[in-house]
Amino acid sequence: MPLLADAPTAPTRGTLDAATAAARNGDVHAWVEAVAALTQPRAVVWCDGSDVERRALVAQMVRTGTLLPLDPDLRPGSYLARSDPADVARVESRTFICSPDQRDAGPTNNWREPGAMRDELDGVFTGAMRGRTMYVVPFSMGPVGGPLSQLGVQVTDSPYVVVSMGVMTRVGSDVLDLVEAGAPFVPAVHSVGMPLRDEAGDEIDDVPWPCSSTKYIAHFPESREIWSFGSGYGGNALLGKKCFALRIASVMGRDEGWLAEHMLLVRLTSPQGRRYHVAAAFPSACGKTNLAMLRPTLPGWTVETIGDDIAWLRPGPDGELRAINPEAGFFGVAPGTGEATNPAAVEMLARDTIFTNVALTPEGDVWWEGLTETPPAHLTDWRGRPWVPGSEEPAAHPNSRFTVAAERCPSIAAGWDDPEGVVLDAIVFGGRRATNVPLVAQAESWEHGVFMGATISSERTAAAEGVVGELRRDPFAMLPFCGYDMADHWAHWLRVGASLDRARRPLVFQVNWFRRDDEGRFLWPGFGENSRVLAWIVDQVDRARGLRTDVGAVASPVGLLPAPGALETRGLDLDDATLARLFAVDAGSWQLETDLTEEFFATFGDRVPQALRDRLARLREALGTPGAD
Ligand code: GTP
Ligand code: MN
Ligand code: MN
Repeated sequence: MPLLADAPTAPTRGTLDAATAAARNGDVHAWVEAVAALTQPRAVVWCDGSDVERRALVAQMVRTGTLLPLDPDLRPGSYLARSDPADVARVESRTFICSPDQRDAGPTNNWREPGAMRDELDGVFTGAMRGRTMYVVPFSMGPVGGPLSQLGVQVTDSPYVVVSMGVMTRVGSDVLDLVEAGAPFVPAVHSVGMPLRDEAGDEIDDVPWPCSSTKYIAHFPESREIWSFGSGYGGNALLGKKCFALRIASVMGRDEGWLAEHMLLVRLTSPQGRRYHVAAAFPSACGKTNLAMLRPTLPGWTVETIGDDIAWLRPGPDGELRAINPEAGFFGVAPGTGEATNPAAVEMLARDTIFTNVALTPEGDVWWEGLTETPPAHLTDWRGRPWVPGSEEPAAHPNSRFTVAAERCPSIAAGWDDPEGVVLDAIVFGGRRATNVPLVAQAESWEHGVFMGATISSERTAAAEGVVGELRRDPFAMLPFCGYDMADHWAHWLRVGASLDRARRPLVFQVNWFRRDDEGRFLWPGFGENSRVLAWIVDQVDRARGLRTDVGAVASPVGLLPAPGALETRGLDLDDATLARLFAVDAGSWQLETDLTEEFFATFGDRVPQALRDRLARLREALGTPGAD
């Protein structure tokens, strides 16, 4: 490890305000000293992201029991981490947006007055790292120095976090060089919140997964700061991901004219060899990682992965919309990942992967529900208890995850990490809807597309076809991730769209893989077959550019639907009645849905852009006109 310095022995204890002041001055060393003075670690280590460093940390975690090495013949270079059973997911109730004006956080975020939150955090962070090592992790979201990239420095007392950040972001001394030379960085402080010495200096025993029952995931959009306390779980602790790349970056984007979105990114190549780039926003657990690594069933097409969770979108010099995946790895949900659903992911996880909260086989390999059809006869479950098939609880935690480098993905696109990004041809929004929403529809305009994004939703309960259940709204799939008022986010999307060249602006679509029949079965086979929908989407791009002259779509009240024959269904076991149901637009239940949308919009008051209210009025009109098609 490069530099092991004794912690500064501050004469007086540090404060949160002193740390913030140093960060505001752009002085990374003064900031680290101030954070150390506040949290009082045993030592401070500056990380360089090297392989030597990673190996040393992994060896240390194997010794302390944080990581269990898997059998090197079965799963080389891979480890299992078991978290505290109470620290397994993001904690939205303890996630705060601390903007000076409450209205700027909007009605969908937990808001705290910044001064009050700072006082609270000052209390919990004081001495929080006593007896632990504090690691300083300089990282870049996006290729280092790229025009769409941003820098951050995370301080953490968790070696698990350091190693995971090394997979998920670009960590290195090159980043530190830029920061030391004055490049702006996002200061991000993380502590597991379990010091190894009490106030009197007496030792406390460590545990394999330290954490605290008190948790704070606090964001200060004004000063671009992140303070995370009490959790070691990915979304709460790997601060480059949801905290920076979505919550803080969305605010940066608002202020600077770009977009930080909960989107996968893929490259499609048609049988004619034409290339297209598509970004898609689906809420958590709605299939981003699946679609990002899709193996097309449609002959002649290829789909390559660029990103599976986050995309940063920025208008380019020629009025095009460019996109990068700011991450360097995948932190995906394990359960449900199997040969039948995501073979590329299964191949990706063959080695060099950190698994968290999956089950362990007697041979020293991993297993989770959905990896194979038949579970092994004996397992150790995610909590370390014996497990046999038929046990009441699942062997792997439903939110168990894998952490693996992007390069390990067999479908990763050539040049996926091009600092200039890729030019987007289409943007797709999707939710998990058992009813109403067609398999695919194209927005008539950018404004209509923003309306589609703003109204993404899933049924709370599986409702019968044609009946709208209570809708859980997740606008732009950003509900837990937008660092400012959601309605302002819609207005920002309208502004960004208006700043693009009309001919180069991506087309916008809505998809729904999850429509069901009366028996509750999915109408659409999904997974690899979704390539058929992607093919129609990019065919529409070709038509908009005059590269095709055949009719691809017909109008409907909810958008353009594939014209008869335009969606390739040959080779599918799909009868005409099922196909019709996949695209059915029932005026009655859609009228009901527009009422719910109006109620939803009302929760944002007068911040809802007029263009979206107009769009809702137009939808009502289209639904109300008998014979409209
Ligand atoms: P986060 O990583 O949490 O943001 O979520 P994600 O959007 O990446 O979700 P993920 O790909 O892990 O979603 C997995 C869930 O979606 C599983 O339950 C899959 O079975 C389901 N799923 C994905 N694609 C399809 C599909 O085409 N059809 C159906 N029926 N289910 C799908
Ligand atoms: Mn996600
Ligand atoms: Mn995912």
